Amino acid sequence: MNSLQRAEAADHAAIEELERLVIVKSTIYTSGERDPRDPPEQRTGPGKLHLMGPDPRLRRMPDRPTLFDFYRCRVGAGPITHMLQSARLARKNGVSEKIVLACLLHDIATGGFIRADHGYWAAQLVEPYVDDEVAFAIRYHQVLRFYPDDSVGYKYPDSYVRLFGPDYRPEPYLDTAYKYARDHKWYMTARLLTVNDLYSFDPNVKVELEEFEDVVGRHFRQPEEGLGFDQSPSAHMWRTINWPTRYL
Ligand SMILES: [Fe+2]
Ligand SMILES: [Fe+2]
Repeated sequence: MNSLQRAEAADHAAIEELERLVIVKSTIYTSGERDPRDPPEQRTGPGKLHLMGPDPRLRRMPDRPTLFDFYRCRVGAGPITHMLQSARLARKNGVSEKIVLACLLHDIATGGFIRADHGYWAAQLVEPYVDDEVAFAIRYHQVLRFYPDDSVGYKYPDSYVRLFGPDYRPEPYLDTAYKYARDHKWYMTARLLTVNDLYSFDPNVKVELEEFEDVVGRHFRQPEEGLGFDQSPSAHMWRTINWPTRYL
C-alpha cells in the first residue's frame, strides 16, 4: 500500500466506525433548540453500539492529558487567544503570578465547556489544582465584570451594552454574589483579573501557550495520571470535556 492508499483505508475505517456507532448529545447541548421533556431522537439500529469512549470525530487526546493538551484539543482558538492576551497584559502590568494564571484560565468554560455561569464552572474545574485565591478570582470575575470600580479604573464594559442592551441589569443572585466578593479578602485579586480581562483582543496578535509554561509549572498542580483520571472532585468534568459524547 502506498501512502495515499493507506490514508484512504484509514478514512474508510473511520467512516465505518462512525456508522457502527450511536452517538447522542447530552440534553444540555440541545435544551432550548428542543424541549428537553420531549423524547430523544431514536438513532439505534441493528448491530449498532452506543459510544462509550473517545468520539472518533474529535482529535484524540493523550492518555495523560495536561492543561495545555486540553487547550490544544478541546478549547476554541478565539477564547485561547483572549486568555493568552489577558495573561500577557497582566504580566506586563506587573501583577502577581497568581493573577497571571487566573487570566490564563478564566474563560476556559466559555471556550470548552459551558457558557452560562462560566466563572463558576471554570473555578470548579480548576479548583483542585490551583490556590484557593486563584479559584476565587476566576469564580468572581464573571460577577465583578458587571460592577464598576473607579479605584482601579474599571468601568462597565461597552461591549456588554452592545451584547445585552442598555437595559440589562444583573439578576439579584449576582448582586448578592457581588456584595460577598466586594467584602472578601481576595476581592482585589478577582478585581485585577477583570482589569486585565481584555475586551477588545486583537486576533492578529499571536501569543503561544509556551510563554506561560513557567507560570503553569509553578502554580498549576498537574496530576500525574492526567486531568480526568486522578479522582479529584472535578476529574469527571475534565473527562466529559475529553469524551463529550459518551453515552454514560
Ligand atoms: Fe469571563
Ligand atoms: Fe475574559
